Amino acid sequence: MLQSKYKWVGIILLLLLIITGCTKEENTEQQKTNQEQNATQEQKSNTEYEQKTSEEKNIDALTVDQILTMPDSIVALVNKTRYLPSDYTPENLTVVAPDIIPYTVPGTLERNMVRSELEEPLLQMISDSQAAGLDIWVASAYRSYERQKEIFDRNVEQVGYDETIKVVALPGTSEHQTGLCIDFTTESVGFTLEENFEETAEGKWLKDNAHRYGFIMRYPKGKEEITGYSYEPWHFRYVGADIATEIYNQDSTLEEYKNIL
Ligand code: DAL
Ligand code: ZN
Repeated sequence: MLQSKYKWVGIILLLLLIITGCTKEENTEQQKTNQEQNATQEQKSNTEYEQKTSEEKNIDALTVDQILTMPDSIVALVNKTRYLPSDYTPENLTVVAPDIIPYTVPGTLERNMVRSELEEPLLQMISDSQAAGLDIWVASAYRSYERQKEIFDRNVEQVGYDETIKVVALPGTSEHQTGLCIDFTTESVGFTLEENFEETAEGKWLKDNAHRYGFIMRYPKGKEEITGYSYEPWHFRYVGADIATEIYNQDSTLEEYKNIL
C-alpha cells in the first residue's frame, strides 16, 4: 500500500517536471523570438529613421502633449516644440481695412489675412502710426501649413537646413498658422524683412507702441535661446493689450510669460 503511494507521488513529480520543463523551454523560445523580432524592428526603424528628412525627424521627436490642444486660444504658445495640429486653420480670417492699411502684395490673399479679433486693434494701430507720419506696411500675416512648408523647403534649397531652422519655422510650428501675427515692413528698407527694420522710424515706433494695441515683438534681440529664433524686429504677435503690456514692461517673451521654457 505504502509502496503504491510512493509510486503515485513519483509519477506526479515526474509529470510536474516534464510540464515545467516544457514551459521553460517554450518561454526561452518565446523570448528568443521576441528578441529577434525586436532586433528586426529596431533595425527596420533605424533604416527608416536614416531615410527621413530632418523635418520628419523633428516631428518624430514630439510627444502628443506638445501638439496644442487649444490652438484657438489668443495666447496659444506655438514654438519649436509646441506644434499646431497640421490641419489647423483659424476661423474668421479676414483682410483688415485694405483701403487704409497698405499691403505689400495687395488683394484678398491668405497672406493678408488675420483673425477677426485683430481687426480693430490692427486698424487702430496702423491708423495711429499714420497719424504720427509713419508708413507701416503688412508684408505677411496668415500662412497655411502648406504655404509654410513651401517657404521652408525653398529656404532649405537656398541656404540649407541649419540656417533655415534659425529663421523659418517648420510647418506646423509657425505662429503665422494661427492668424495672430504679422510681419511688418516699410518702404525705406525696400519692403524687406531684415534686421535694419529696427533702425527705421516705423520699426522703432512698433517696438515702443505695439503693446498698447495688444501686439508683442515675438522674437526680441537677446532672447534667441528662449524663443528659438533669431531676432525679428518685424514679427509681431497679438496676445491682447493686458498681456502684451505686461510682457513689454517686463522685457519678456511669451515663453517666459507662460512659464513654458
Ligand atoms: N519666421 C518665423 C519664425 C516663422 O517662420 O514663423
Ligand atoms: Zn513672421
